[in-house]
Amino acid sequence: MSKSSDDQKVSASRLNLNRLVEIISRFSGNSRRIFIMAGFMLIFEAGTATLIPLLVAYIINYLDIRLAQIGGKPVVLPLSPLGFLGLHSFIGPDLVTVALVTLGIVIMTMINRLGNSMAEVYLAQGGRKVGYNLRVFLYGHLQKLSLTFYNQSRTGDILTRVTSDVAAVEDFIISDLSGILGSAILIIFILVVMILNAWQVAVVTVLIIPLMALISNYFTNRIKAASKKLSSSEGELASAAQEMLTSIRVVQTYGQGSYEHSLFSAQSQNAMNLALEIAALEARLNWVVSVLGAVLTAAVIWLGVYLIFRDPISFGGIGLLAAYVRYIQDMFEPTKKLIEEWNTYGKLSASLESIGDLIDLQPAVRDEPGTFTAPPFNGHLEFRNVHFAYPSNTSTNDEVQVKPPAALKNLHFDIQPGQVVAMVGHSGAGKTTTVQLIPRLYDPIAGQVLIDGHDIREYTLDSLRSQISMVVPGAILFTGSIVENIAYGRPEATGAEIIEAAKEANADEFISKLPDGYFTILGERGANLSDGQRQRIAIARAFIRNTPILILDEPSTGIDAESADLVQNALRKLMKGKTTLIISHEPNLIRVADKIIVIKAGEIEQMGTHDELIRAGGFYANLNKLHSGQRDLVNSAQTTAGIVLPQNGKGLKTALVNQPIEKLVGSLDNEQHVGDTGGQVTGRD
Ligand SMILES: Nc1ncnc2c1ncn2[C@@H]1O[C@H](COP(=O)(O)OP(=O)(O)OP(=O)(O)O)[C@@H](O)[C@H]1O
Ligand SMILES: [Mg+2]
Repeated sequence: MSKSSDDQKVSASRLNLNRLVEIISRFSGNSRRIFIMAGFMLIFEAGTATLIPLLVAYIINYLDIRLAQIGGKPVVLPLSPLGFLGLHSFIGPDLVTVALVTLGIVIMTMINRLGNSMAEVYLAQGGRKVGYNLRVFLYGHLQKLSLTFYNQSRTGDILTRVTSDVAAVEDFIISDLSGILGSAILIIFILVVMILNAWQVAVVTVLIIPLMALISNYFTNRIKAASKKLSSSEGELASAAQEMLTSIRVVQTYGQGSYEHSLFSAQSQNAMNLALEIAALEARLNWVVSVLGAVLTAAVIWLGVYLIFRDPISFGGIGLLAAYVRYIQDMFEPTKKLIEEWNTYGKLSASLESIGDLIDLQPAVRDEPGTFTAPPFNGHLEFRNVHFAYPSNTSTNDEVQVKPPAALKNLHFDIQPGQVVAMVGHSGAGKTTTVQLIPRLYDPIAGQVLIDGHDIREYTLDSLRSQISMVVPGAILFTGSIVENIAYGRPEATGAEIIEAAKEANADEFISKLPDGYFTILGERGANLSDGQRQRIAIARAFIRNTPILILDEPSTGIDAESADLVQNALRKLMKGKTTLIISHEPNLIRVADKIIVIKAGEIEQMGTHDELIRAGGFYANLNKLHSGQRDLVNSAQTTAGIVLPQNGKGLKTALVNQPIEKLVGSLDNEQHVGDTGGQVTGRD
């Protein structure tokens, strides 16, 4: 598999039981001791639960024989508990026997309940610990997975894995594991006692187990299938809600609220039906199990009575029969529980599977052995015959793979330290794709990206990325104060440095006017700022990092007229002295570039200085012509109609939009009327 291939699955799917053990042992960390203690507590619980019916059996047998003795029959009394210990009883044997047996029952019950509670406490501690470790691990793991993974997964699905699936595993350990283990140990203990006293009863009891397993298997399979559907349906619900929330503007402006609503309600209905189906299956299973329990009790009574009549001494008396009936009841509860928990486990296995799949994913972009920490870069950036294609969506499955078209073909250029190189081209030409290869958001399929003469894959990811700053359109801000947002890429920055960066980014002025100044809390994604203000904060963020390599991907796109000049000035300052690759169609920004690359359908079409490209004609020359044409248009509009249109990028954009499409196409690209992405030519500002 090539390096740029999808995040790879390390192991084939394993049994989910192994998965559970694996997850518990891997993520219990230093609390493995807790699970061992829980195990001991469960053994105490099951042991005492097995002893109590034997104590009752003893007292029944004792009374049976005592009554026969009182009736004048020549029988030998069983040894009293003190007699067992070789002690003579000074009080009457009846009193001692009853007193000791009842005391025994009370003490056993105390130990039994204590074991039960302690096991639950230990498992709660252990479960929380595993859940915590698992969550923290997944959060870190998700940050390392490449963009390919994110292109192919829906955010809601990933969210479900980190939240509900982890919670399911956590809950299982806390509330179900003690039930499953406790029941299993108790069943084993009871069977051992039965085999020691009357193996025939044990055989009958054991015979019924395969029957129960068969029935439960039938139901659990159906429950599992429905659960799987339910969990994917819940994932879809989360995704749908997430999508609606993040695109609320579009939903509201297009008046599609009721359509979205009906879609959502149909999905909810589906989830509800599945949940009801599961409940019905579980109810039927419970009924069958209870009836089977009654049948088994009847069988044991028949067998016990037969055995007592045949040989009362060797069977162990009426007391033992009573103990067995109690055992069957005691055992059926746990067996039923085991089967019920098995259902929970069925539900859980879907969660385990998706968590396991996620854990197994190895980031496609990662530090290979032999990488070293990059020294401070001079900033010589080089693309050497770079090929790149986005992995197809089907590549994670075994389905037929459609080879995706190459997004970049044989890209070859270099940027000397401190140079500014601009990249222009139609929408979909591959500009963003090119710059994403520099911080290794993706790796090329063939060819190399080099910095200071080394393939960037030789550097550790951290040391590479720490020396690159990227400003993208629609600055991404986080909930928190402005200070935190500016210092995002360098948390150790001082207050003075933060203010200095804000000043350089032309952001200080508006920040100072905010009610809380630099400590103003931004809403989610910085919703309480204008586009231009957000962008200037993003620029300040790049200033404070002061990295030798700078990537600007349409940094002034979508910014209001008023801010555009401020943003452009800030960007020009930012670019000074840094190896810069800027994607922009803003002539004021790219005219200063040392070199301009025209990219078309993933290939370099033209490369040269502003003057060279103007002379040669082509996309860039046309872009310039169009811009100055628009300026004339704006000027004449100003003089003729007295309308003042802004002369910056935004004004140009508005003017472009108002142009008839044929004119745009003609003026942008004389030879090429069909754009490289499905026949659309988009005029960019
Ligand atoms: N995540 C992705 N998965 C698959 N294909 C993609 C992905 N992102 C981009 N592409 C494809 O790669 C090609 C280049 O896209 P790219 O984003 O680099 O274009 P661009 O030049 O930056 O365009 P724009 O000016 O619109 O930003 C396009 O054909 C696009 O459809
Ligand atoms: Mg782009």
